[in-house]
Amino acid sequence: MTMTFKTISVIGLGYVGLPTAAMFASRGLSVIGVDVKEDAVARVRAGEAHFVEPDLDIVMRAVVTAGNLRAVTVPEPADAFLIAVPTPIRDDHTADVSAVESALASIAPVLKRGDLVIIESTCPVGTTARAAEQLRRARPDLSLPDDAPEASDILLTYCPERILPGQTLRELVDNGRTFGGLDRRSALAARDLYTLFARGPMRMTTAPTAELSKLVENAFRDVNVAFANELSTVCEALGLDVWTVIDLANLHPRVNILAPGPGVGGHCIPVDPWFIHEALPEQTPLIRTAREVNDRKPHQVAERVVAVAERYRDPTIALLGLTYKPNVDDLRESPALQVARDLAQREIGRLLVVEPHVDALPAGLADRPRVELTTLQEAAAQADIVVILVAHNRFRSLDRGALSHKIVIDTVGLLTVPLVSM
Ligand SMILES: NC(=O)c1ccc[n+]([C@@H]2O[C@H](COP(=O)([O-])OP(=O)(O)OC[C@H]3O[C@@H](n4cnc5c(N)ncnc54)[C@H](O)[C@@H]3O)[C@@H](O)[C@H]2O)c1
Repeated sequence: MTMTFKTISVIGLGYVGLPTAAMFASRGLSVIGVDVKEDAVARVRAGEAHFVEPDLDIVMRAVVTAGNLRAVTVPEPADAFLIAVPTPIRDDHTADVSAVESALASIAPVLKRGDLVIIESTCPVGTTARAAEQLRRARPDLSLPDDAPEASDILLTYCPERILPGQTLRELVDNGRTFGGLDRRSALAARDLYTLFARGPMRMTTAPTAELSKLVENAFRDVNVAFANELSTVCEALGLDVWTVIDLANLHPRVNILAPGPGVGGHCIPVDPWFIHEALPEQTPLIRTAREVNDRKPHQVAERVVAVAERYRDPTIALLGLTYKPNVDDLRESPALQVARDLAQREIGRLLVVEPHVDALPAGLADRPRVELTTLQEAAAQADIVVILVAHNRFRSLDRGALSHKIVIDTVGLLTVPLVSM
């Protein structure tokens, strides 16, 4: 039986929740967006996104003006609730799912028979089953799928998100989706809902399988980037060019080594592998080591800069890029920013930071002496040492001739043309 949804509620209006809410609203559903942050709610009410995402503002304006999306701070009744709140790690690398628990606590009073609850946040294995326990305690009058499989009052499904910021609207439609139901009826209901706009392949499975499959995607990326990063330190020690080595190795039809860099950033890849390791430390030495290799890399880059800086009395060092990946304004968990902060703290010279996607230096740089935000041309002209930390498209115009008398540390291979012939 296909379920019909008239009103849905999205809890957490961030990078995942807001575009998802806008997408459902654009398909004619009445969408209630809920966020604990007043300013996020105010921006949504004004028809604006509170972060940069191409084309999202256009969709937002249309759906808010049409009255299909409205934002509130306290949940109201709806037919389906999608939870897309943050799930960070604590300093000791353990998962912090308190926002998911708060979101569940906030929707419990307004749940009614027949409602569907979907967890979209990236979560440790077992979170969906624990969500059922929490809802059962809060609403003993309603049955959950593990009390009454295929016949419960509330349907509960884990549905992970894998969008790429910067391409969110396209990926929401095109990406494949997994529906991990606590029972089959829950998975089917979530699939029916997403069919409103999603066009990618759809798979139904159990909740823990869906939970682990999401974590595994990011652990896979982390382990493979760690291999590339380890290779970069091997090549550096041997005086070889890692980009050329990788380019040659990748000629093998079954080898595909990823690109090394100054570390691994963003709020997914450096975080999610710990959720697996926390649950099964004995079984996951590779996942843990990959995390350590990638976490060590910003420090290794800073050490390399310090080593070459010692050749100068008072060097001017250009740092190109601060964001966690190219062509975005996102600084979360950015290894480039870590390198910059590390160098600023050591006060080894004048730092000229170039980051075309921010208007001001972030904390840890703004409050340091002799650190300036400047243009690519100015930094390239004045620097003794140029450190390339992010492969922004805008850096590709860098005049290689102007760098010929400078020391260049290119952590992302921006300037490298692999030497595949002799
Ligand atoms: N951003 C991505 O590219 C991406 C991709 C895949 C998965 N994820 C996962 O999706 C989840 C959400 O990530 P995000 O990037 O959208 O986070 P975000 O920080 O951009 O947004 C989360 C929002 O939830 C709000 N919030 C927190 N607690 C709340 C509560 N109890 N009730 C209502 N609102 C609450 C916050 O104020 C914030 O606006 C995380 O688990 C993340 O790992 C993110």
